[in-house]
Amino acid sequence: MSTQAPHLTAAQERSLRDIFPGDSLLLAPEQTLIFATDAGRRMGTPLAVVRPTTEAQVVELLRLAQAEHLPVYARGRASNQVGACVPARPGIVVSLLHMNRILDIADDDFVAEVEPGVVTSDLQRAVEARGLFYPPDPASIDISTIGGNVATCAGGMRALKYGVTREYVLGLTAVLPGGRVLRTGGRCHKNVVGLDLTRLFVGSEGTLGIVTRIALKLLPLPQATATLLAGFSSMEAAMHGVRRIFRAGILPVALEFLSPEVLDCVARRQPPPWPDSVRGALLIRLDGSRESLPLEIRRMHDALHTTGAAPGNEPPVWSAHGVGHDEEEPLWAMRRGISPSSYLVRPNKIGEDIAVPRGRLLDALTGIRAIAQAHDLPILTYGHVGDGNIHVNIMFDGADQAEVTRADAATVEVMRLVRSMDGTLSGEHGVGMAKKEFLHLQLSPLETELMRQVKHAFDPLGIMNPDKAY
Ligand code: LAC
Ligand code: ZN
Repeated sequence: MSTQAPHLTAAQERSLRDIFPGDSLLLAPEQTLIFATDAGRRMGTPLAVVRPTTEAQVVELLRLAQAEHLPVYARGRASNQVGACVPARPGIVVSLLHMNRILDIADDDFVAEVEPGVVTSDLQRAVEARGLFYPPDPASIDISTIGGNVATCAGGMRALKYGVTREYVLGLTAVLPGGRVLRTGGRCHKNVVGLDLTRLFVGSEGTLGIVTRIALKLLPLPQATATLLAGFSSMEAAMHGVRRIFRAGILPVALEFLSPEVLDCVARRQPPPWPDSVRGALLIRLDGSRESLPLEIRRMHDALHTTGAAPGNEPPVWSAHGVGHDEEEPLWAMRRGISPSSYLVRPNKIGEDIAVPRGRLLDALTGIRAIAQAHDLPILTYGHVGDGNIHVNIMFDGADQAEVTRADAATVEVMRLVRSMDGTLSGEHGVGMAKKEFLHLQLSPLETELMRQVKHAFDPLGIMNPDKAY
């Protein structure tokens, strides 16, 4: 039996060199190592890294990969948390960061066409300079790419009012294994001709083909925005606040929750503006015209302060607000920093992103708190409660085997709790490698079988990001 590490044959290397000249092909382990992992810190084995600049190179690559049965892993900036772009079986990593052109911003069509490597916030700034708006804003917005957002159907803060990436992908070009080029959808904002192959790619985690061009829907840029940080005496009081906002008929742009544990974590990084009495917070964004925004802020204030007799149904004990980008941005930077700050609590985490029907939010948060206590582990809960989507960061020390065991047990219990509420294992991060073991809790055998047949139609040899997602 050979003990040699997996490697490409000399002929495979030559073929790759023909397609990818110079430093668009990386083979040295010290250069490919960084492409072995993602933000979830799982490790795989890149046999080579290729960095195409053209669709023609991707076509040639997928012809070669199909002929040679080589696994292929597309990636952007690897901000993924579930191992979705990790080369779990030895294979070719395709970095799309050199395909990063904004090809067109069409004011009359309200469409942008981009290559997959464009960084999300770069596109947003480019369209906003023209009075246009691309709403999806995952917390990794300054790092992540549109291609990665499409592959995972990224959500973010503004999903509550404006929806997730899926709602904005009008058309795309994808190269399929063997080198076939699929052009699907287009620039129309509505389209019901045939099955929706375009959106099938959104959230497919690189398992069907490599997307090389994306047409995105744009909206008019709202004239004015405001952000409110409302501090409550408890998690329960904050959740009552969520209910009052919706009951008042308000649909905020964003409605984010910070649990007491998260407030403490943020306070470790910088002195917080809130007093100690705040043990739960809502971060809320509103938008509208310059005339309507003050009225919307007033409605929000009334909704938060008009409480009923139910226990825990209390107004905020403290609040702060900002109007306009410069005043609002520090509050949102603080919010986007929660995930990286979580490592101040423990060196390792299992980062879940479950979602439950909105009416079950308080039950879910209470259940997760009980799981944290039972396993004596810090569990940070925060995130997109307006969508019923909660980030559950189970923090542990990987050097402490007892903690590792308890963290694994807590994860299983969180997943079971969520499913008992008809919730989903993932609201926005996807399945990747991390959640595969739990899929049977959510997907029926029929669903799984149909998904496999769909994959087979695109990728008969199973070379696109194998063993992931479904
Ligand atoms: C967030 C990422 C973790 O919302 O999805 O912070
Ligand atoms: Zn999130």
